[in-house]
Amino acid sequence: MEPGKGIGGRLLGLLLVAGLALLRGSWGLENGLARTPVMGWLHWERFLCNVDCRADPHNCISEQLYMQMADIMAAEGWKDVGYEYVCIDDCWLAARRDDNHRLQPDPLRFPSGIKHLADYVHSKGLKLGIYQDVGTHTCAGYPGSFGFYELDAQTFAEWGVDLLKFDGCNFINLDMLIEGYKNMSLALNQTGRNIVYSCEWPFYLWPFVQPNYTDIRKYCNQWRNHGDISDSWNSLKNIISWTAAHQSVIQPVAGPGGWNDPDMLVIGNFGLSKDQQVTQMALWAIMAAPLLMSNDLRNINPDSKALLQNQYIIAINQDPLGIQGHRVTRASHDFNCWSLMLRR
Ligand code: GAL
Repeated sequence: MEPGKGIGGRLLGLLLVAGLALLRGSWGLENGLARTPVMGWLHWERFLCNVDCRADPHNCISEQLYMQMADIMAAEGWKDVGYEYVCIDDCWLAARRDDNHRLQPDPLRFPSGIKHLADYVHSKGLKLGIYQDVGTHTCAGYPGSFGFYELDAQTFAEWGVDLLKFDGCNFINLDMLIEGYKNMSLALNQTGRNIVYSCEWPFYLWPFVQPNYTDIRKYCNQWRNHGDISDSWNSLKNIISWTAAHQSVIQPVAGPGGWNDPDMLVIGNFGLSKDQQVTQMALWAIMAAPLLMSNDLRNINPDSKALLQNQYIIAINQDPLGIQGHRVTRASHDFNCWSLMLRR
């Protein structure tokens, strides 16, 4: 009898399919999103919590800033090479929820509302990301989502939001942090809208326990493991070293649908030399990292722009196999060798 043709063979085949289906079901957040690392722009590293639009109208956190970035992303080649998400970070909110407990943006800085902004960004062929926090308050002290996960998920979906960065400041205890991240994931899925879910869950757990990455991958499309990046070589080196030092834990879980997030690209700002910028781009591509730039696209040096738009490096980052590269040797403090596998 040919192998696999008898009853035993068929049974084996069925079991195999069932086993694979089970594996698939339990492996990742199956919302169909982020099959390759997310690409886009996020305001935080460059613009922080600048809410003073009177003194600094050009750079404050306001609807105008995201509209301008969207205009440029669509017009100056960014969208064409894959940068798609225009993302708001902290400090967009009003100090209080409205009378129906709904989130509302700061009325002076976002006078047209988030729905209008999402429509605008969509009209450019791009997507809109927003920020909230699992705890009682965001890191900058605005109202958090604790107690309102479903309502907030629904609000974001109604506004037309496409990505949620969910921070972990001001959580009550570790169980609540974990449950909160899971609940928001389920709430987002229940809206029926495609919303990429970006978590900081492991970063907030590491000081206490080793995070359960199988669980994290089941609920999130990407997750931060490390503290905030800043515009310096030291910061970059810390993140790269941390990633390499923990690669046995974090590298195997990355893949289509779920990615380790070493934080924003700071290329095009002030703190990195040309070679250091090349290093960030290369390492972020090798690490299959989300490519979220935090810079001022209105005023960016041509070399940085060319580097960020380099299609060969982007192709490595966006490889459909989605296998995160890893460090193979560390010959000296400054000489590391990394390896990665790509689809042929
Ligand atoms: C931090 C987070 C940053 C930024 C900031 C906003 O916790 O890691 O990326 O979102 O909060 O307050």
